[in-house]
Amino acid sequence: MNTPLNIPLEPEMSTLALISQRLASCGYLILDSALPEAVMKNLSDYLQNLQLENFKHAGIGRDKDFHVDTSIRGDEIHWLSHNDSSEQYFQWIEQLRLELNQNLFLGLFDFETHFAHYPPGAFYKRHYDGFKGNPSRIVTTILYLNQDWQKGDGGELCLYDGTDQLLETILPSYGRMVIFLSEDFPHEVLPAKRDRYSLTGWLRLNQNRM
Ligand code: OGA
Ligand code: NI
Repeated sequence: MNTPLNIPLEPEMSTLALISQRLASCGYLILDSALPEAVMKNLSDYLQNLQLENFKHAGIGRDKDFHVDTSIRGDEIHWLSHNDSSEQYFQWIEQLRLELNQNLFLGLFDFETHFAHYPPGAFYKRHYDGFKGNPSRIVTTILYLNQDWQKGDGGELCLYDGTDQLLETILPSYGRMVIFLSEDFPHEVLPAKRDRYSLTGWLRLNQNRM
C-alpha cells in the first residue's frame, strides 16, 4: 500500500541544512535514516514490485562510447519513473535541490536516479561520477535498501579523496544515505555475497547550457 500523496511531506529542515553545511565543509556526508519511513517503505515496495527483467546491464561511457564492461561494473539498473511509490522521494530531493541552490549556489537544474542491483560477486571499480564521465553531474546521492546487511556480506562503498586516500568504507545498510560532490570523490563498490540494492542519483546542471 502506498502512502497517499496528499499527506504533506515536509522534510526536516535540520536534515537539509545539515546536508548543505557538510557538503560545503567537507564535500561529503553519510546519514542514517535521513528519509521518513513512509518514503523508504514506498521505495522498497517499488523495488520489490520490479521484476528482474526490468533491470538492464549498466554501461560505461557516454553516447558513442557507451558499452557494457562487467570487468568494470557488474550492476544492472532501472531508471526511476514518477509514480505513487517514487513521488515522495522526488519531492524530498526537490527540497534538497532548492536548499543547495540557495545556500551553495550550485545551480542544480534537475535530478536523475536509478535503482542498481548488484548480483552476488558484482562490483564497480573505482570511478568518478562527474568530471570527464559526465560533466553535468554535480551532487551524487546514494540510498541503500538492504535490510539486515552484515559486515561479512561485503558490498562496501569505498570513498576516496582526490589523492586516492581512502576516506570511508561504508556498509550498504537500509536507510543509509551517502551524498557527495560528484567531481571530487572517486569511489568503488566491493563485491558482495548477497544481492545488493541501491538507489543512486545525480543532481545535475542544465545540460542544454553546457
Ligand atoms: C554509481 C555508484 C555506488 C553504490 O552508480 O555510480 O558508484 O554504492 N554506486 O551503489
Ligand atoms: Ni559512482
